[in-house]
Amino acid sequence: MEKPLTGMMRPDGEALTLEEYEKAGGYEGLRKALKTMTPGDIVQAVKDSNLRGRGGAGFPTGIKWSFMPAGDNVLRPRYLIANADEMEPGTFKDRILIEGNPHQLIEGMIISAYALHVDTAYVFLRWEYRRAAERLSRAIADAYAGNYLGRDILKSGFRLELYLHVSAGRYICGEETAMLNALEGRRPIPRAKPPHPQASGLWGRPTIINNAETLCNIPHIILNGAAWYKGLSHTEEGGTKMYGVSGRVRRPGAWELAMGTTIREIIEEHAGGMADGYRFRAVIPGGASTDFLVEEHLDVRMDYDSVPKVGSRMGTGTMIVLDDRTCPVGMVHNLERFFSRESCGWCTPCREGLPWIEKLLMAIESGEGEPGDIGILESHTGLLGPGHTFCAFAPGAVEPLQSALKYFREDFELHIKEKKCPWK
Ligand SMILES: Cc1cc2nc3c(=O)[nH]c(=O)nc-3n(C[C@H](O)[C@H](O)[C@H](O)COP(=O)(O)O)c2cc1C
Ligand code: SF4
Repeated sequence: MEKPLTGMMRPDGEALTLEEYEKAGGYEGLRKALKTMTPGDIVQAVKDSNLRGRGGAGFPTGIKWSFMPAGDNVLRPRYLIANADEMEPGTFKDRILIEGNPHQLIEGMIISAYALHVDTAYVFLRWEYRRAAERLSRAIADAYAGNYLGRDILKSGFRLELYLHVSAGRYICGEETAMLNALEGRRPIPRAKPPHPQASGLWGRPTIINNAETLCNIPHIILNGAAWYKGLSHTEEGGTKMYGVSGRVRRPGAWELAMGTTIREIIEEHAGGMADGYRFRAVIPGGASTDFLVEEHLDVRMDYDSVPKVGSRMGTGTMIVLDDRTCPVGMVHNLERFFSRESCGWCTPCREGLPWIEKLLMAIESGEGEPGDIGILESHTGLLGPGHTFCAFAPGAVEPLQSALKYFREDFELHIKEKKCPWK
């Protein structure tokens, strides 16, 4: 199948240079956009492609774009931000795209900026991604030198300044409104919505925030057309997707596959199935903040509509597999420790509730749990669920726990009864 996002990448893992990218058809989408399309044409093409945001929530990209005030007489500056914070445990797809082909992201951002009448753009990059930062800095400099950035891009009259911002390294910076505060030099806590960033974002100006993978799709949609892009997918949700698998499988990694590939195909064919001596027990399908799925769900298609129908979310599309020799309580404890440490502390249920959850899980795992602890954990998953906190961090943080209590209840009970972890 066609692999527009990764197909032209070098086998040795080095970044494509500007020359290599141009040779492989790079920046042709930008030329086409600037020479033959209006901003409105581009927004329409993105809508027609059925591209949905790859940052987790899967909101249709063209529709999000159309919420930004349009027209030639718009007030400037307006902003575009590529969200490359990627601190979701288990997720490493944006890193592969940026390290392998930084120009693809840059081209996607220039076309998007043209469509949105934006003149200033930022890449908000996770602090730990040092290699990605080096390669992106180099590529941005080369793009300026090649007249793809700056004033009068390709003599079209369109201008764009693009900046790389390396984040301070907190998970909450990936939440779009916390990211706006971080870029403004404030404490990264989410903002109350509305107003949404499309209307009032960075420094109170219209701002679009898109995931890095989302933006990497744009040049291909523009160059080859919306119908072509939709045709790459197994389902109505267009295109391809970067799927990944970690855990005790034969070949952990990430692959670009048709949107809607089944969980079974991703784990058994692309990740090579379970490693010798291990059996599949469950999977967290979309990064750490999604609910576990089990064997009966293996034939579910990985897309934004299908996974919620069986009680989880597609999230980032990068799975963590749980095997039969790993303690599910220990695994969930590990995840909840991460979330508890990363809470921004703005709202009480999240700030106080997650450390409680972590303490209880620690007690259960180390043989000091009480019979009532499971009920307390259950009530906490309700108290931290949707609608009780300012942002989606807390509801996401309790998703692995609430599904673990459903699928692995007997494991929690056994820990408490035997006063030890049965896996140790
Ligand atoms: C706690 C939290 C962390 C997030 N981290 C990221 C992230 O690292 N990268 C990302 O693209 N989106 C992240 N998101 C989602 C963003 O808020 C936003 O929805 C997304 O960047 C929009 O881009 P898209 O429409 O292209 O998916 C996070 C959301 C939450 C609640
Ligand atoms: S849910 Fe947690 S991370 Fe989100 S605003 Fe509240 S305290 Fe901060």
